[in-house]
Amino acid sequence: MFKSQTCGELRSTDETKVVMLAGWVHRRRDHGGVIFIDLRDRFGITQVVIRSGTPDAALDLFKTAETLRSEFVVQIEGVVELRTENNRNPLMTTGDIEVVATKIVILNPAKTTPFLITSDGRDVDENLRLRYRYLDLRRERMQKNLTMRHRFVKFIRDYLDVRGFLEIETPILFKTTPEGARDYLVPSRVYPGTFYALPQSPQQLKQLLQVAGIERYFQIARCFRDEDQRADRQPEFTQLDMELSFVDREDILQLIEGLLTEFVEKHTTKKLIAKPFPRFTYAEAQDKYGIDKPDIRFGLEMFNITAVTRGSQFLPFANAATVKGFVVPGCAGYSRKQVDDLGEMAKKKGAKGLVSLMHDDTGIRNQGAGAKLSDAEKTAILAAANSKPGDLLLFIGDSPKVVNEALSELRLELGHRLKLADENVLAFCWVIDFPLFEYNEEEKRWDPSHHMFTAPKDEYIPTLESNPGAVLSKQYDLACNGYEVGGGSIRIHRRDIQEIIMRLIGLEMEDARKKFGHLLEAFEYGAPPHGGIAPGIDRLTMLLCDEANIREVIAFPKNQQASDVMAGAPSPVYDLQLKELHIKITE
Ligand code: AMO
Repeated sequence: MFKSQTCGELRSTDETKVVMLAGWVHRRRDHGGVIFIDLRDRFGITQVVIRSGTPDAALDLFKTAETLRSEFVVQIEGVVELRTENNRNPLMTTGDIEVVATKIVILNPAKTTPFLITSDGRDVDENLRLRYRYLDLRRERMQKNLTMRHRFVKFIRDYLDVRGFLEIETPILFKTTPEGARDYLVPSRVYPGTFYALPQSPQQLKQLLQVAGIERYFQIARCFRDEDQRADRQPEFTQLDMELSFVDREDILQLIEGLLTEFVEKHTTKKLIAKPFPRFTYAEAQDKYGIDKPDIRFGLEMFNITAVTRGSQFLPFANAATVKGFVVPGCAGYSRKQVDDLGEMAKKKGAKGLVSLMHDDTGIRNQGAGAKLSDAEKTAILAAANSKPGDLLLFIGDSPKVVNEALSELRLELGHRLKLADENVLAFCWVIDFPLFEYNEEEKRWDPSHHMFTAPKDEYIPTLESNPGAVLSKQYDLACNGYEVGGGSIRIHRRDIQEIIMRLIGLEMEDARKKFGHLLEAFEYGAPPHGGIAPGIDRLTMLLCDEANIREVIAFPKNQQASDVMAGAPSPVYDLQLKELHIKITE
């Protein structure tokens, strides 16, 4: 062993102990005659002191200490001493002691790093951080994040193990498993012209494991999706993928709630907004928050005034399919520019405009749209808004989709600006009763809202084909602080219903058999009723770590352009490799 203790271990009770430490030089301070080294390893930082002295040995020691630079790897032998009262550092776990060096061995020098390791990295260009990720990960912040991720995954494994789950790996080289993104394809050398698809999730395989009688399956599963990158998306990411037999929705919601509640309470300083987690139907979530992953840490709930303004003199309201709004408390004094900026945001989301009304002592101020509304309309609006003098009221009239998308964006923006969301709160909530299908205008067909294996609610089975738009499903999503952190459903386990769904989403039977024949066939051999869920490990860890970007909790993420700038991937390959794969590059 290179060390007798870690750099986070020594306390005042270790006084006079002879110890051996090893790690990186975090900081070196030369006080003329005394050199202080902050020695760092993954477990902490210990202050090492080297004093110039008369004996020859001490002189050599001091000379060596003078050559140390940041990020040199060193081994230090020394004696633990108590720091004097006014030199103690209560912010460091090892802040009561220091190690007086008697020997220093330079295990490896280091070039000057392209950025400081001592900062949290927020001041450094992200591509530079990713290019030197192995240095970036030395930061305390990143080590904390990776530690939290480890704790979370370890907790999950233990939690599920005692509840009878088996962790089972499923193939990465597989066949298309659609989850609404493009597939990553891997060409086969052995079968020219054919491809494996990397799984967008292990969805089919976990269902097949239920047919196989596993009953309680989970996997810390890597998923691959070729889609546009966002702060909460990666081309490859990790799910806690689960599937259970002989369960209904309630069993799954309870299981996940139990898991998350226990982890948050035992292993974090975060607070849960409510227990049990609040539940909204999809329709309620759309009505109140305009979105299916609401941030419920704050109110700013929407209200609908379509009926009130149906025949209004104010035409943008009168002519709109839907008119909704929300109250921004205390912001009636917003300047023209502030309101216009919000209008620009709404326009980016497709709205034709944003209507702002100021609530003053006399009611809705007679200005702009306010001048065109009748007294009866104003009264009805104020009643719906439940606002106070000094409040700003924002409205959009448009198609329900545009109204919801634009208003929910404004709601989040204002919640953030007005600092309404408690940063230390995790506001989990369930969204249930999703529509089974979404109409795809471009393709003129129904698309599954979740994926095509999700079961309709029983009462809609008779009208599946006659009124697909009205069918509600057994899908459930878990949202937290405005992110979708998990999704799942009770599945179809009967071949006849699965075939109806495939037909409705425009999958020709021939095609369906080619793609999913294995699953359809399996359903004929006694498939148990089953369902599952897949919480996103990266997104949850991001929230647990107070990070706003998923890349901060992944050791080696792709950058925003989906490339690995450290290794240089994707990259061209040798002609010979292409030839073996029977592939020609045409551009
Ligand atoms: P879904 O597609 O909703 O469901 O994904 C489940 C969860 O995975 C996370 N997630 C992502 N995280 C990071 N980057 C991405 N690109 C990304 N895409 C999804 C989210 C999401 O809530 N097979 C179904 C689950 C099931 O039905 O059991 C599925 O994959 O947190």
